[in-house]
Amino acid sequence: MSEQLIIHGGKTLHGSIEASGAKNAALPLLAAAILTSEELLFHRIPHLKDVSTMLSLLVHQGADVSINEGNQVTVCTASLTKSEASYELVKTMRASSLVLGPLLTRFGHAYVSLPGGCAIGARPIDLHLKALEKMGATIHMEHGYVKAIAENGLHGAHIHFDHVTVTGTENIMMAAVLAKGETILENSAREPEVVNLAETLIMMGAKIEGAGTDRICIQGVETLHGGDVHIIADRIETATYLAAGLITGGDVTVTDTDPHMLEAFLARVEEAGAMVKTGQDWIRCASDKPLQAMSIHTTPHPGFPTDLQAQFMALMCCAQGSSVITENIFENRFMHVQELLRMGAHIELDGHSAIVHGGKPLSGAPVMATDLRASACLILAALAAQGTTHISRIYHLDRGYERIEEKLMSLGASIQRISQSSSTGEEY
Ligand code: UD1
Repeated sequence: MSEQLIIHGGKTLHGSIEASGAKNAALPLLAAAILTSEELLFHRIPHLKDVSTMLSLLVHQGADVSINEGNQVTVCTASLTKSEASYELVKTMRASSLVLGPLLTRFGHAYVSLPGGCAIGARPIDLHLKALEKMGATIHMEHGYVKAIAENGLHGAHIHFDHVTVTGTENIMMAAVLAKGETILENSAREPEVVNLAETLIMMGAKIEGAGTDRICIQGVETLHGGDVHIIADRIETATYLAAGLITGGDVTVTDTDPHMLEAFLARVEEAGAMVKTGQDWIRCASDKPLQAMSIHTTPHPGFPTDLQAQFMALMCCAQGSSVITENIFENRFMHVQELLRMGAHIELDGHSAIVHGGKPLSGAPVMATDLRASACLILAALAAQGTTHISRIYHLDRGYERIEEKLMSLGASIQRISQSSSTGEEY
């Protein structure tokens, strides 16, 4: 049944919440379970739709998965039988293509559906495929599926990614750890989630150097073993809650997180006038007056993350002055603009840039979420708006934000989830 969020704006958010484990770290780490027959115990797995999709994919392939107390999950792929990832599962989550490298390594062949387009752009996986071909795989497209074969196993290769790809780097790193010989990845992604994956693979017995830089060297080993996997904090979730505090003129602290992962975002909000304080594993942001307009452009890590562009735009709608927000990673990631305009924002689009004229009051309206981070942007705008906002299509949100209403309500937000067919909602 489809659901809506109803937000009564104008409440100032105060308080402290814990960050959840990162979705974008959990997904490749779960795919890495295919690389060993031994059990992996995952700590801090976020309860999210995308994570259950990845677990379903593993179960479908024959893995034993058990969901333990709290946020722990054990995965054992000793009895894995299928090297296929079906369209039914892959179509709901592009990151399912992360199983391609591990399945090909494990079975010598893999049959993985192409993810297809998504709301924020075409998002091909050509760079993943080119790299696997360089490592000895034969790749054909068949009925919408990637059919990859490497009967004699993969071998090491020198790979230069034409542009930075996060899941591409992760997929090929997983393919390389058990390949014969040395693989060098140039122009690789430097995201903290790539480092989390590399450190986990090293714990499992892999030989990897350079993760976190743009050049990663991997020496293939014979086998990998199981162990405990620790998922890092979700930096995008962390920044979304800090932005929720700032957009309401409040004071929010996020704990169990890592300020180093958010340097670009924190620098921009501080320049815009926010008070930013950090400790080893917490971040506090506060502001008792409107922020000043601040321009940003998205780039791969350590630059300003594309996954925070929409949320930052909501902040800039409420800031004093005009800012330019330039999206360099995805070609169609301004779908939230039309919805913000319906809430009274003044934004002009010019190719890859949005010019945001801030300081005009936002007003509640019925709006529609178009993708995961656009949903977060609309929540922020709704928290700051006068009156009530109804956000529909919130299934996007459940892909990436764990217990979002509960967390926002604990900070003082007024937010309800209702089923669209019913008129009364359950208060969270
Ligand atoms: C990952 C993140 C996503 C984030 C994005 C950019 C996960 C599960 N998802 O997505 O939240 O928004 O990084 O930080 O970690 N490209 C190609 N060919 C390829 C691969 C990518 O042209 O083979 C292009 C994409 O279309 C895009 C750019 O490269 O324009 C970056 O994409 P990429 O880093 O691969 O994004 P994802 O890994 O899918």
